[in-house]
Amino acid sequence: MADPNYPGIHGILGTRGSLVLDLLFLAMFAVVLVMAWSIGQVKYRRRYQLHKWVQIVLAGVLLAAVIVFEADIRLHGWEDRAAGQMGGHASPQVWMSLYIHLCFAVTSVLLWPVVIIRALRQFPNPPAPAAHSASHKFWAWLAAADMLLTAVTGWTFYYLAFVR
Ligand code: HEM
Repeated sequence: MADPNYPGIHGILGTRGSLVLDLLFLAMFAVVLVMAWSIGQVKYRRRYQLHKWVQIVLAGVLLAAVIVFEADIRLHGWEDRAAGQMGGHASPQVWMSLYIHLCFAVTSVLLWPVVIIRALRQFPNPPAPAAHSASHKFWAWLAAADMLLTAVTGWTFYYLAFVR
């Protein structure tokens, strides 16, 4: 439970997480759902322009979230909260789950801008299937899977560090 001495603002989920961590935990559900909807729109309904803007806005929102999250972590840390006491340390299992999460999070941060910039340069405007389609489908599916795994491993880290 929340210790009033933890640095930073307490979260809203009633766990040991900070407000920023809680909001990010919840936001990742929206990110995964919106991404799946956007891919469904392009795959089954050929709404290319809609797909383009949803993906660009999603990437912008994610970038802003990452910046706020990094600021919270750098300013307030997270290990006191994970340990359940000030000056405490997170368990090796929590650290392992964080490293696994970071593998996906870091590659997503690198892959998403590449997929978007290549799509903007190589699809016509307004967007439509083109020579770039095959390459886009390969890299964009990889980027989407990477984001899904970022979310799943992030939720796992949150649970191990701030709930259990
Ligand atoms: C990280 C961002 C993006 C992701 C994850 C993503 C994801 C995808 C996926 C998974 C598909 C394939 C759906 C299928 O199997 O049929 C697709 C198709 C497509 N995307 Fe994206 N996309 C992204 C950004 C963009 C952007 C910025 C544009 C436009 C400039 C764009 C334009 C298209 C088009 C035109 C298709 C249809 C290709 C075809 O069927 O020939 N995408 N996208």
